[in-house]
Amino acid sequence: MDPILKVDNLTKVFSGNGKDDFVAVDHASFELMRGECLGIIGESGSGKTTIVNMISRLLDPTEGTIILDNEDITKASGRELRKVYKKMQMVFQTPQESFDPRCRLGDGIGESLRNNDFSKRDARKRVIELLSECGLSEEFADRYPHQVSGGQCQRAAIARALAIKPSLLICDEATSALDVTIQKEILELLNKLRMEHGEELSILFICHDIALVQQFCDRVLVFYKGRLVEQGTPDEIIRNPKDAYTRRLIDSVL
Ligand SMILES: Nc1ncnc2c1ncn2[C@@H]1O[C@H](COP(=O)(O)OP(=O)(O)OP(=O)(O)O)[C@@H](O)[C@H]1O
Ligand SMILES: [Mg+2]
Repeated sequence: MDPILKVDNLTKVFSGNGKDDFVAVDHASFELMRGECLGIIGESGSGKTTIVNMISRLLDPTEGTIILDNEDITKASGRELRKVYKKMQMVFQTPQESFDPRCRLGDGIGESLRNNDFSKRDARKRVIELLSECGLSEEFADRYPHQVSGGQCQRAAIARALAIKPSLLICDEATSALDVTIQKEILELLNKLRMEHGEELSILFICHDIALVQQFCDRVLVFYKGRLVEQGTPDEIIRNPKDAYTRRLIDSVL
């Protein structure tokens, strides 16, 4: 089976403005298979967000290629990029960032639908379905982002990301800003969505919390100072880390 995402030699060098340049991501290569949930762990500053920002085209790579669903998107921009975002959606650490504070959640969730030829009425119907899929009642469509809790807003952000049925969902610390019980609920929601969507939904899950990654991911990549130092199933990585850094990372949290 072909991967939904293939990253080859992905590299980001930030210019040091006169001082030394900084290599934030150093020739990373990996694949994400269809229906798979792939975790990325690594200490703060190891390059996790820089990687996903390159994949989601928020940041230009210095070197390397990104193939999404057999298409090279490394340099995608403009109209091409709009096509990319039909296949790939992001959920961020602070869900409020996904929504315009002046718009109701329902309008934010339905935006991509209306941009894709849904009538206002059909978009509203789909928004309510999406809210329900994500565990929120219809009334949330009419609330503003500041009128909901962090967990509810994250549910709405997931509904928004799922609106146009992406093949790849990128979650960058999507549960990190939430308290432990809400974290668990969001993870249960993501798990339910995975069950329902099967091979049609793949997830790239960036997370500080190794225990969450262990529960949720099929495979894990470990990054250290921008380099991919180890990969395997969560059990392989946690029970039998091959790399000394991975061992330290696990010992520090478990
Ligand atoms: N725009 C930028 N210019 C210069 N350096 C940057 C820039 N963005 C990130 N960096 C540096 O790149 C490194 C990797 O940052 P990144 O945000 O990818 O780490 P991370 O693994 O996501 O960390 P965290 O777990 O804290 O979210 C850091 O040292 C950071 O300071
Ligand atoms: Mg980060």
